[in-house]
Amino acid sequence: MNDTRFLDDGDVIPKGTNIGICIYKLQRNPKIYPEPNEYKPERFSKEESEKRNFYDFFAFSGGARGCPGTQIAYTQLKIVIATVLQNFRIESKGTAADLDTYWGPVLKPKNAFIRLHCR
Ligand code: HEM
Repeated sequence: MNDTRFLDDGDVIPKGTNIGICIYKLQRNPKIYPEPNEYKPERFSKEESEKRNFYDFFAFSGGARGCPGTQIAYTQLKIVIATVLQNFRIESKGTAADLDTYWGPVLKPKNAFIRLHCR
């Protein structure tokens, strides 16, 4: 930051501070996503998405330095998921509650419990 900022809650961010945004926490904010750890794909319906601020879903960042590959990434994801579902039967040995994760540039499963069977 180029200037010291005084926030409404009394916190001060000194000049020169590097700021990182925790996307994981932001996207599990229960005020925006009630029951954030529940699988509710309907959260992302057109109607529900339109109720939220653009920056409430931040996986691809935003603004002038936001990810220019967003649409490619969405297309790739759909192709990969469709290809996997077409070619494999998926067996799960546990539930999402059993899943432990590594923190890093991306979130990775520590104890994967999915098995793929060729169709
Ligand atoms: C699931 C897939 C992807 C995710 C979650 C993702 C996420 C992000 C995020 C969060 C940023 C901003 C990083 C920052 O603030 O410093 C970013 C930047 C960028 N992404 Fe992606 N990205 C994905 C796929 C892609 C793809 C497929 C491409 C290219 C084909 C791409 C190209 C870029 C580039 C060039 C930047 C730098 C933009 C800049 O600094 O002006 N990304 N991405």
